[in-house]
Order: sequence, then C-alpha cells, then structure tokens
Amino acid sequence: MVIVLGIESTAHTFGIGIVKNGKILANVKDAYTTESGGIIPIDSAKHHSLVADELVKKALNEAKVSWKEIKGIAFSQGPGLSPCLLVGLRKAKELSKKHKLPLIPVNHCVAHLEIGRITGAKDPVLLYASGANTQIIAYSSGKYRIFGETLDLGIGNFIDTFARYLGLGFPGGPKVEQLAKNSKNYIELPYTVKGMDITLSGILTNLRQKIEKINLDNKPLYHLPDHPPLLDNVNNKSYDNINFKNDVTLNNLENKNKINYTKEDLAFSMQETVFAMLVEVSERALAHVGKKELVLGGGVACNSRFQEMCRVMCEERGCKFYVPEKNLLVDNAGMIAYLGEIMFKAGIKFEGMKAEDLDIKPRERTDEINVTWR
Ligand code: ATP
Ligand code: FE2
Repeated sequence: MVIVLGIESTAHTFGIGIVKNGKILANVKDAYTTESGGIIPIDSAKHHSLVADELVKKALNEAKVSWKEIKGIAFSQGPGLSPCLLVGLRKAKELSKKHKLPLIPVNHCVAHLEIGRITGAKDPVLLYASGANTQIIAYSSGKYRIFGETLDLGIGNFIDTFARYLGLGFPGGPKVEQLAKNSKNYIELPYTVKGMDITLSGILTNLRQKIEKINLDNKPLYHLPDHPPLLDNVNNKSYDNINFKNDVTLNNLENKNKINYTKEDLAFSMQETVFAMLVEVSERALAHVGKKELVLGGGVACNSRFQEMCRVMCEERGCKFYVPEKNLLVDNAGMIAYLGEIMFKAGIKFEGMKAEDLDIKPRERTDEINVTWR
C-alpha cells in the first residue's frame, strides 16, 4: 500500500493532495484571486506561505491518514512562477526532513496530462488547455510529444487578458463563459491556425480594439461638467450652461453607426473562434497519429462550450472523448500526488543530499521529461 502527499504551488493555487493506490483521498486548495487585474507573483507566493500549514492539516484530516502511513512527498517542480514554486519546494523539503520521507519532483504539465488517465482513457491525444500552456500532445517512445501548440499566449492567459479588458477580475475564464451564454450573435474575428500551431495575440488585439470602441461609445455625447462651476476670472462669468462638443463627441457619433455588437457578443465570438481553432488542430492530430481517444485537460477544459465542441468532433470521427471532473482540471495537488505515486512506484524518489539538492524548474517543458514510468 502506497500513500503519497502532493504539493501544488506553481501559480495562483496552493494545494495539498493525498493519494492511495490511484485513489484521491484528499484534494484541498486555496487560490489567490484578484478583483481586477492579473497575478502579482510575489503576492501569490505570500498567499501560499500563509495557507500552507493549515491546508496540510486539513488534507490529513480529510484523508484520515497519519504521517506514519505516508511513503513520499511529491511537489510541483515546474514550470511556473519562481516565487510560488519556491514556497512549494521549501514546504516539501521541510516536511521531508521532519518526517524522514523521500521527495518526488513532478512536472506540473505532465501531471495535468497523467490525471486524464483517471477517466479510463488508455492511449489518447491530449488537448492541454490551461493558463500558460496550450498544447496538443500524444505519448510516443518514452516522451509526451507535442504535435501542436500556441506560438504566443496560453489560451487561459489569453482569456484572462480579454476578461481584464472587459473590467473583470482574475480568473476571467468562468466569468467570460457566463457572459458568452447571453449571446448567439457571431462577430467575425481573425482565425489563426498555422499548420498544427495556433496564435492568439492578433485575436487579442482585435478584441481589445472592439472593446475600446464599446467603451468610447458609452461615454456621454456631450461633455457634462463634473467639477465646480468654471469661472472666467477676468469676466467672472460661469460656463456651466455650455454644452462642450469635443472630438470624443464626434467619434461617438461616428461609432454609433458602426458598433453592432455587445460585450456578450464578443465573449461568445471569442469562444467560438479560439475553441474551433483548437478542435481543428486536435482533429488533425487524431488523424495523423491514428489514435481513437481525446482527453481534454487544464483549467480551460472546465468550459462547457469547449467540452461540447470537442465531444461533437469526437462523435463525428468515431472517437471517444474524456474529460476529468472540474477540480482535477484546474490547478490542484490531487494530480501532483496522483503522478507522484505512479513515479514513486517506478522507483523515482530523492533522499538525503539528493533531496536537499533539488531545485525548482520554472521553464521545464513537457517534452523534456523522460516518461520512465509508462
Ligand atoms: P499552467 O497549467 O499552464 O501552468 P495554470 O496552472 O495557470 O497554467 P490552470 O489552473 O490549469 O492553469 O487553469 C487556469 C486557467 O483556466 C485560467 O486562465 C482560467 O481563466 C481558466 N478557466 C477556468 N475556468 C474556465 C472556464 N469555465 N472557461 C474558460 N477558462 C476557464
Ligand atoms: Fe496548471
């Protein structure tokens, strides 16, 4: 019987997971969020330090296991934000020393992929759509091979930035999904698939320009004074009864005729466009590698429209479609403990000085990992 405790801390989420023989006994977390604007790495790391000990206790209680039963500590070694990764590494080393347990360094992206196998998929193409990563992957000869990916922004970061332009806080994905449900009006956007890769920055610029037009359009037609009455010092005359026409007014009048969309329309059109791009590349990957299963993973996979589009494509191709439950899609430590246990059973563990020497790997790529456990 093997029980492994996992620690996740790569970005916004700090989590502790406990897994026993492939079964998740506890998966607790606390996420750093903002009302507006994106992640500030140092603030997120401070958040992680504050919640860590409490979450360790909570996970042990939930799983009903004691330290004596745990065989190893897995932690997210990378990729991620350095200050956040360091909190996880230090907590892992502290617990490893205190309880005399080996460390298991886990690649966060590979954990997002491996947890897909909890659904029962055997040898799938993986569409990994998270904050910083967007990749179409399949396992072959000891490595997770990347068949296609974003050439610029990760899909989640792209959606979060779009949400920020709309004045929504972080994470933006769930809020944008709700907005999109209120529209069926498709506004044309650039569709940028390049071979097996996609790009998102051009679409983001296009969306930003469209949002700026809406914002401009919402300004009052006439400049209404919001200050105390202006006085002409020489003639002691008030200008308050004057309607100021300015350039903004003229722009607004021109825009009024051009803008035929709402924020909801933009959210809807954004989702339809970028998800179609990902579905297209995934379908081509399935055809190329001759696999019959698609697993959707990463936080953006929580989006129900995205899931529906993937399901339809798979049905049309006669493939099986799998998606893990939501709390295993977004960042969580259940997936770290899950892969940690698989690696531990394959003999991958670090003890003594080797454990001391472990460091974070903020830029480690999925296809660098030697998958010796499969
Ligand atoms: P990475 O795994 O690449 O390091 P990450 O850890 O930040 O990135 P995840 O936690 O896997 O990413 O996913 C977070 C992302 O998922 C955020 O960008 C968030 O907006 C997005 N997301 C969550 N729910 C939804 C949803 N319903 N629709 C679209 N996007 C969503
Ligand atoms: Fe992630």
